[in-house]
Amino acid sequence: MFTTLQRKILFVTGVALLIGATAFAVWQSGQVEWQTYQQQYFAQTARPADIRVRQIVPKMTGQPELCTTCHIGLAEISASHPVEVFGCTTCHGGNGLSLEAAQAHAGLVGGKNPADMSVLAQTCGEGCHAGHAQPDLNHATRVQRSVQGTYAGAIAAVRFAFGAQADPAPLFGVYGVSDPAPAAPHHLPELAPFPHNPDHPVDRQFAQNCLDSGCHLSAEARAAPYFYRATGCAACHVIYEDDGLYRGDDPTIPRNEPGHMSRHQFTTAIPFYQCNHCHNRGNYSLRQMEFVLRDDLPPTGPPLSAQMPPEGRRLIEYYQPIGQFTLCEWELDCIECHTAQEAMGDGHIYPDQREMQYTQCRTCHGTAEQLPDVVTVSAEHQSALRAARLNPNYSLEIGDRVLVTERGELLGNVKVENDQVTLTSKVSGQSYPVNPVLGSGCQQNVEQQESRYCHECHAYQR
Ligand code: HEC
Ligand code: HEC
Ligand code: HEC
Ligand code: HEC
Ligand code: HEC
Ligand code: HEC
Ligand code: HEC
Repeated sequence: MFTTLQRKILFVTGVALLIGATAFAVWQSGQVEWQTYQQQYFAQTARPADIRVRQIVPKMTGQPELCTTCHIGLAEISASHPVEVFGCTTCHGGNGLSLEAAQAHAGLVGGKNPADMSVLAQTCGEGCHAGHAQPDLNHATRVQRSVQGTYAGAIAAVRFAFGAQADPAPLFGVYGVSDPAPAAPHHLPELAPFPHNPDHPVDRQFAQNCLDSGCHLSAEARAAPYFYRATGCAACHVIYEDDGLYRGDDPTIPRNEPGHMSRHQFTTAIPFYQCNHCHNRGNYSLRQMEFVLRDDLPPTGPPLSAQMPPEGRRLIEYYQPIGQFTLCEWELDCIECHTAQEAMGDGHIYPDQREMQYTQCRTCHGTAEQLPDVVTVSAEHQSALRAARLNPNYSLEIGDRVLVTERGELLGNVKVENDQVTLTSKVSGQSYPVNPVLGSGCQQNVEQQESRYCHECHAYQR
């Protein structure tokens, strides 16, 4: 029989073995999960298998991260946010030391999207895109106060039209927001948050049919072809294809499940269809307080969209049949005409979109009496020079002469050389001449510059 000492030794050994075995099992099950992803990755990219734990030690935190052991093949989000500097947890949070998915994902910020409006202050805003003395660098603050975020004008218009408020001045935003330093009479100091459980029947119906149906920056997209997109900054800067399918190499992201970014990449060369995930997909019916989907769009994905020639796709997809447009309005991408400031706001709260939409036909073509405004780029035009550096499709240098909007924003891709104006597309790199109205035989009345008026003679028939 065993002595007391032997029993103790046996017991301790047994416990040690048990702990060891459990630890091994846990380790092995972790192994198996990440190994499966790596096997899948090497198989799908036809690269020689090199299966091992992958670790990065990003410069910003100095803490090791194992996320790419499973998320192998995920594209770097952008050259301005390099993996070796940012890693993953700087944006996403989570637990970088775990090789077990649930544990690694505990505490992800914003779930799938760290650029969601609800977490901006913790992520993009935190020390990076907010708090600068130079206002145009405060993208997070600007976007939060922008009409695309607050939706203030639309909310006020509906409430006023249906008698829920006595005058059309905006009271509510989709969320509450304030501007400590309004700089013009039409800048609003604040908006109250639209009530979550509104009392007024108009507000209840509006919340249900419009606010929750996915068209402003904090609303989840409608889960349907053409509508798939992210929220917050990623709504514009992370591209979703119309079919919502992932086209990158990360094996953890299903490639046949709609509702994912096309690639894990930011871009400022935003194509028209990204803006159209919100715009031009239907019409508001004010009477029914409903969003009525357009019914003329072909099914997405192969064979149609993918094989359609770009012009064909644009013509069908760009604008609705009821709209009237000139050639340049459907041939060019939205961001050739609509500037960063129009899209992201200027840091003030505007009562409605009419106060923030200022690019006009004349910005590029001038009028029957005047050529468009031109400026010579100097070192003070940091914002335009920065935008050009971020875009591979055109270049801009100090000394170049370019067109400028009435609010002083440079169109860095529309250059003037020897009296000829040339636009280089920010999205395709293709160049187009921009002819002036002056001297063209255009029959416009100079007093009228709204596009509706120009379309009377310059409409393109679809
Ligand atoms: C063991 C493998 C594994 C590790 C380690 C891992 N992930 Fe994941 N991750 C996955 C899988 C699988 C999915 C997709 C399914 C899911 O959501 O769980 C995913 C999904 C995600 C998503 C999308 C979440 C959503 O709600 O759709 C994010 C963001 C993410 N991971 C970030 C990270 C970050 C950051 C790390 C490191 C801190 C990390 N992951 C570590 C396997 C892993
Ligand atoms: C600069 C910030 C930033 C960094 C750094 C970053 N990401 Fe992301 N990532 C994002 C944003 C924004 C999205 C949201 C895209 C969306 O919602 O479609 C995203 C989406 C994802 C998703 C969601 C995929 C899906 O559609 O289910 C995964 C997984 C992911 N990131 C993993 C990582 C990993 C792993 C790293 C490190 C190698 C990393 N990210 C680094 C900003 C970042
Ligand atoms: C509604 C669309 C939209 C949203 C939302 C959006 N952006 Fe932009 N952003 C643009 C457009 C358009 C440009 C200009 C692209 C160009 O013409 O070069 C731009 C340019 C930029 C640039 C480069 C030019 C510059 O000013 O430095 C940065 C950085 C940027 N955005 C950051 C952000 C951040 C951070 C967020 C979220 C807080 C965000 N954006 C949200 C549309 C958007
Ligand atoms: C998440 C949905 C969403 C996306 C994506 C989006 N927008 Fe918008 N946009 C809106 C909303 C909401 C409004 C405000 C409508 C209102 O107040 O009636 C708006 C208003 C505008 C306006 C008029 C007001 C202004 O600020 O000038 C322009 C121009 C505009 N968007 C251009 C763009 C461009 C260009 C893109 C792509 C780079 C884009 N939008 C992407 C939702 C979106
Ligand atoms: C060739 C330049 C050009 C292009 C390209 C262009 N727009 Fe516009 N857009 C304008 C002009 C000019 C106005 C002002 C209309 C006016 O003067 O009445 C405008 C007005 C708007 C408005 C506010 C008024 C309204 O009618 O709703 C929105 C929103 C808008 N555009 C979104 C877009 C989107 C989204 C795209 C891309 C799908 C786009 N635009 C492409 C020039 C352009
Ligand atoms: C950002 C600069 C820009 C803005 C703003 C702009 N255009 Fe153009 N426009 C162009 C370019 C570039 C072309 C040349 C397209 C080509 O050659 O294929 C063009 C071509 C034209 C033409 C000649 C082609 C034709 O249709 O016969 C007309 C007319 C015209 N634009 C009218 C307008 C009207 C009306 C507006 C306002 C709704 C407008 N443009 C806004 C850049 C612009
Ligand atoms: C009453 C009809 C009419 C209206 C309204 C009108 N135009 Fe024109 N426009 C013309 C005619 C005719 C031409 C000369 C066409 C030609 O030479 O082929 C012309 C020429 C032009 C051209 C030069 C095109 C080129 O390629 O040389 C531009 C740009 C232009 N118009 C812009 C505008 C803008 C912007 C507006 C609105 C502010 C406008 N037009 C309103 C009739 C009109």
